[in-house]
Amino acid sequence: MFPERRMRRLRRTPALRRLVAETRLGVDDLIAPVFVREGIDAPVPIPSLPGVVQHTVPSAVDEVDRLVGLGISGVIVFGVPERKDATGSGAWDPDGVVQVALSSMRDRVGDAVVLMADLCLDEYTDHGHCGLVRADGAVDNDATLECYARVGLAQATAGADVVAPSGMMDGQVAAIRAALDAAGNTDTAILAYAAKYASALYGPFRDAVDVTIADGGDRRAYQQDPRNVRESLTEVRLDVDEGADLVMVKPALAYLDVVARVRDAVDVPVAAYHVSGEYAMVHAAAANGWIDGPAVMLEHVSAIKRAGADLILTYAAADLAEVLA
Ligand code: PBG
Repeated sequence: MFPERRMRRLRRTPALRRLVAETRLGVDDLIAPVFVREGIDAPVPIPSLPGVVQHTVPSAVDEVDRLVGLGISGVIVFGVPERKDATGSGAWDPDGVVQVALSSMRDRVGDAVVLMADLCLDEYTDHGHCGLVRADGAVDNDATLECYARVGLAQATAGADVVAPSGMMDGQVAAIRAALDAAGNTDTAILAYAAKYASALYGPFRDAVDVTIADGGDRRAYQQDPRNVRESLTEVRLDVDEGADLVMVKPALAYLDVVARVRDAVDVPVAAYHVSGEYAMVHAAAANGWIDGPAVMLEHVSAIKRAGADLILTYAAADLAEVLA
């Protein structure tokens, strides 16, 4: 009987492998981040995120149109304002760059793609924290919730289908849901960055949105400790109880165990954010000729799907869409 020659039989041809593939990554699974910067008249490349740019509003609208053509399901919009202040008031300004971009995107593409807005203050605060900073230096949870409610309303009014709170304040989903409902925005969905870790993999993103945390600070007093996983299950259940329609795990590759456990723990759709550092590392190694960049990117994003993510936010969305088409 031995050696047993069973396992290789179904690996013999591409057609057999396709037939028995357990994971099917499709363009429908992908959400593309889009950065929109105020006060520029041409797109600005982001050196640490090869192939990704800070858009003007018109170029962002063209990009969304292109992504629709590629079959991408959703985009998530991040703003880079011209001016920052202590409260991040640009985030809820009706004329703020994200609000203007959302309504222009809606005018161009209608309902052909899901328009999401990252809901946070860090891009808009002069100190770079995700919330209001008290005199003692701590981020004030409840005062921040009032600001998040305003941001959510401004984004919903501008046409966001989904608002995505990423600041990791306790109670943020409930506060935003209540504000949306009170203003009649009952159709606006919430994608909660539910299990978001204080990761060193967000570096290129902070270049993309011009954020430096004041006084060499970090986000460990509100984002999660990378050593924990049960804590993520509690975070996710709380967010679902508060009204989250979808939940997210972030980053993705170093947290595939978290993705798998969250997928088992709740019934709402689970998103995973393949973050800036995860994308940038592949490009950097490929630029050195050390790895086959497109092959590694496809392998990584497929692994995120295999772990249980229903949706994947990735800077590689457009490149993958071309491969997967
Ligand atoms: C906060 C936010 C961050 C990212 C998405 N939303 C940065 C942070 O928490 O410091 C990171 C995304 C990435 O690295 O690709 N507004």
